[in-house]
Amino acid sequence: MSAIELIQSDITQLEVDVIVNAANSTLRGGGGVDGAIHRAAGPRLLAECIKLNGCPTGEAKITDGFNLKARFVIHTVGPIWYGGDSHESDQLASCYRKSLSLAVENNCTSIAFPNISTGVYDFPKELAANIAIREVQTFLVTNKSISKVLFCCFDSENYFIYQRLLDKL
Ligand code: APR
Repeated sequence: MSAIELIQSDITQLEVDVIVNAANSTLRGGGGVDGAIHRAAGPRLLAECIKLNGCPTGEAKITDGFNLKARFVIHTVGPIWYGGDSHESDQLASCYRKSLSLAVENNCTSIAFPNISTGVYDFPKELAANIAIREVQTFLVTNKSISKVLFCCFDSENYFIYQRLLDKL
């Protein structure tokens, strides 16, 4: 039985098989959750990321977790919000699907997502939450190997949006 759970936490502290990073296309680190994950994982993470030669928006790539509690990090590149007419919603949905598929391919049974694109990339939080929950729910219908998906909110605004939406399920 797959469980969708909500937590307000620093994602680098979570003891799950894999945490998802809201990266940029260079995969060379940045601020926000990207910066936090690289700081917590240590410099070997950047060294491994450099070998990956970047990542297109909507795609995902996996690395070791190094000093993190998580075994792996899945780096996905969310869309920058330009108003909604540039396929941003489809690209964000793809981030969740590709990350979940990569987790299954690497025998992960628990995965934690940050609120991809809702920080620096300015994606509307409510719309992003709806996309995230829809994509995870749809994926779990046909993929039973993942037993836990954790939505990890760092800020309260996201947390209360997810709480309200998940309570309706
Ligand atoms: N744990 C969990 N979530 C976090 C953490 C953390 N330690 N730090 C920040 N967040 C949350 C933010 O509050 C936000 O809700 O992650 C969400 C995504 O925000 P950003 O990290 O700004 O990511 P994003 O909006 O996808 O922009 C990506 O920012 O850091 C750069 O290199 C990154 O260029 C890329 C861009």
